Amino acid sequence: MKEKLEHILKNATEEINKSESIQDLENVKLKYLSRKGELNSIKKNLKDLSDEDKRVVGSFANNVSNELNKLIEERNSELYRIELNKKLITEKIDISLPSDFRPQGKVHPLTQTINEITEIFQGLGFSVMPSEYSPEVETEYINFDMLNFPPNHPAKDMQDTFYTKVAPNVILRSQTSGAQIRQMLNQNPPVRVISPGRVYRCESVSARKNNLFHQIEGLLVDKDITFSDLKGILNEFIRIYFGASRPTRFRASYFPFTEPSAEVDVQCIMCGGKGCKICSGTGWLEILGSGMVHVNVLKNVGIDPEIYTGFAFGMGVERLAMLKYAINDIRLFFNNDVRFLKQF
Ligand code: DAH
Repeated sequence: MKEKLEHILKNATEEINKSESIQDLENVKLKYLSRKGELNSIKKNLKDLSDEDKRVVGSFANNVSNELNKLIEERNSELYRIELNKKLITEKIDISLPSDFRPQGKVHPLTQTINEITEIFQGLGFSVMPSEYSPEVETEYINFDMLNFPPNHPAKDMQDTFYTKVAPNVILRSQTSGAQIRQMLNQNPPVRVISPGRVYRCESVSARKNNLFHQIEGLLVDKDITFSDLKGILNEFIRIYFGASRPTRFRASYFPFTEPSAEVDVQCIMCGGKGCKICSGTGWLEILGSGMVHVNVLKNVGIDPEIYTGFAFGMGVERLAMLKYAINDIRLFFNNDVRFLKQF
């Protein structure tokens, strides 16, 4: 029996050393050391021996088993190292190869402009209105009536406003000013907010006009607010956005929801103020409407005009971008021509 064990030790050792992969080694282990392996079948016969022999042969069998386990472990880590080295050589990555071309997306120039304007107003103490106060599908009631439009105002005409079939008097909003109403219905003064968004108008499309464009509405209501606050804030915005050297002017105007009202013009960048097709020969382009919030509007939302006053403004985002970057056709913003978009 002892001879048999020595035989097993010799053969197994040879096979372990000859094994060339971890799988080979695993097979050797199964052959000799598993429950049905050669070593165990000898151990099973120990019961037929005398007590003395049982002790001697038993302990020798254990030694053989320990020795083989140790050899297998050593060979295993050796083989692991060999296989790893093989992998490192064959699976080498050539980091000098050119990579796949992946065109990178960018923020749309209109979004960039909205972000820039928003940041300026945040610096001036305004916060951005919750978007639920400025839905693009709006009621005539909010878009016009609450803003003090007289019942038969021409702007409500089908010419300018897109009506929907959702329900009578449900429209695509023609201006962001309705957001003022929702804000004031939800928040008592002081109010100091802006609200960017899309507006829609039923107009013939040209280099200057599109059916869809963007506005940023602004509203400030508090005690002791005057027209000079309006001028101060808007002049400061223009100075930051365009730089100090761009000529601008305030011009008296009319809006149903403000009194007094004013528009702000910026000198046309296309012609430097000489007059061209873009500015209809005037040398100026309007960028925003503004004014002191009308007493009737304050009353409509339940704010006491004896205690509070405020100003509001609404600016055209496309106009502001066109005037900053000398873009002479509003349609460029909506055609999604990558050659245009990637310049920003
Ligand atoms: N909503 C006006 C428009 O689309 C612009 C405007 C004018 C907004 C005066 C205002 C404002 O908030 O006070 O032409």
